[in-house]
Amino acid sequence: MAGRFIVFEGIDASGKTSQARRVAKACGGLFTFEPGDTALGAELRRWLLDGSTPMSPVTEALMMLADRSHHVATLIEPTLESGRHVIADRYLASTLAYQGYGRGVDLQRLRVATDLAIGPCLPDLTLLIDIDVETANERRARNHEDRFESADAAFHDRLRQGYLEMAAADPARWSVIDGRGSFEEVAHAIDRRLRPLL
Ligand code: TYD
Repeated sequence: MAGRFIVFEGIDASGKTSQARRVAKACGGLFTFEPGDTALGAELRRWLLDGSTPMSPVTEALMMLADRSHHVATLIEPTLESGRHVIADRYLASTLAYQGYGRGVDLQRLRVATDLAIGPCLPDLTLLIDIDVETANERRARNHEDRFESADAAFHDRLRQGYLEMAAADPARWSVIDGRGSFEEVAHAIDRRLRPLL
């Protein structure tokens, strides 16, 4: 039987990465992330995240999709076909949230391009680890990271609203988890939701 494909999404400081790693470890699944978890992807990630080459939101989206299409073909699909679960830190909703809701790329066109990149490889479930921007700011300050500038805060709020909108539109494939509690509280809510699947 094919493995399950579970995706974690959320804004920066939502805690999704540590929860995704925990779930992968607990179920013996493959932990993976985007952008950059293949050799080609690591190159794309460098261009995407180091900031030295400013690019338009559409260019950024297409590079994310190039990373994703390669990720699906060389890692995600083969792993699922082998019967192992795949637990991903970010997937297609990140492109819709960041490049679409966040940076204003037309959502309908973005969905068409995303569809080309992933084909039928849709997640069984996307878990949105939801926190408000104020809580994200407090966490970042506590971790000695910079707070979001006010422009960043408005951007992150658009992301969050975008995520909530996507989740509300497709409740069978999305679950919203309140990310404001302790690690254990959030883990408990996630596990309850995943129990029937994994
Ligand atoms: P990363 O360092 O992996 O951080 P995070 O813990 O937030 O996932 O950075 C990935 C960044 O790339 C993050 O800011 C979100 C962004 N991103 C997009 O803008 N579009 C996408 O399609 C993906 C997958 C990520």
